[in-house]
Amino acid sequence: MEVIIKPDAVAVSKEAAGIFREQLATKPESVLGLATGGTPLGLYRELVALFTAGRVDFSQCTTFNLDEYVGLGAAHGHSYASYMQEHLFTQVNIDSARAHVPDGLAPDVPQHCEAYEQAIQRAGGIDLQLLGIGGDGHIGFNEPGSALGSRTRIKTLTRQTIVDNARFFGREQDVPHHVITMGVGTIMDARHCLVLATGAHKAAAVAAMAEGPVTAMVPASALQFHRKCTLIIDEAAAAQLSRRDYYRWVYDHKPEWQRV
Ligand code: GLP
Repeated sequence: MEVIIKPDAVAVSKEAAGIFREQLATKPESVLGLATGGTPLGLYRELVALFTAGRVDFSQCTTFNLDEYVGLGAAHGHSYASYMQEHLFTQVNIDSARAHVPDGLAPDVPQHCEAYEQAIQRAGGIDLQLLGIGGDGHIGFNEPGSALGSRTRIKTLTRQTIVDNARFFGREQDVPHHVITMGVGTIMDARHCLVLATGAHKAAAVAAMAEGPVTAMVPASALQFHRKCTLIIDEAAAAQLSRRDYYRWVYDHKPEWQRV
């Protein structure tokens, strides 16, 4: 895993935006895996700014979001579908027919999950998968205990995730208890995984993910097996990494031919 430590959240977003820009410049028809939550907001702002400046083009790409709340339709203000519309899809030239978010109102959830997996396959697989990390080490909505080979399916949120995400809903009682999420195995199939984390409240999860044992109790730790995973974090989120000076050294001494 490549670990990049930046001074603050803005620098994390700019570094991540550079990776997206490079991906789309190299392969305009890229398949992008997208994430929600507070962490990617800065990245989406950067991508909108790059698009407005004519420096990135989304017209040929396809996107698949990680997850959605069961029971919330795309029109619901707190659905991840509406988050994506607000923060990215309506701000750039992504073809809406190729922007996929799991359907929280799907009448047959297992069938919808299977179809989602097949749609990813048909599109050629995910080239670049964006991820945040939950305070408990979840990726997507793969809560601790999720099988490391899991595919897209329904999951029940932990009490902690419900409490953490209540800030988006206003009231804890309004947070759905069930979600549809890509599995850890689905995420692991992406050709490049890009994990972002900022703030001291993520430091323990980041350390467990990058330096702890690989365990279903920290689903993000499965990424230690990924052939190309980039973790971009700010100083606060890096605080509990035992090898952070080494990661800085590696980044600062990267050979020219490895720089994007
Ligand atoms: C949510 C999302 C994840 C996200 C994580 C962290 O529950 N399902 O995709 O990465 O929690 O969220 P935040 O970035 O708001 O801390």
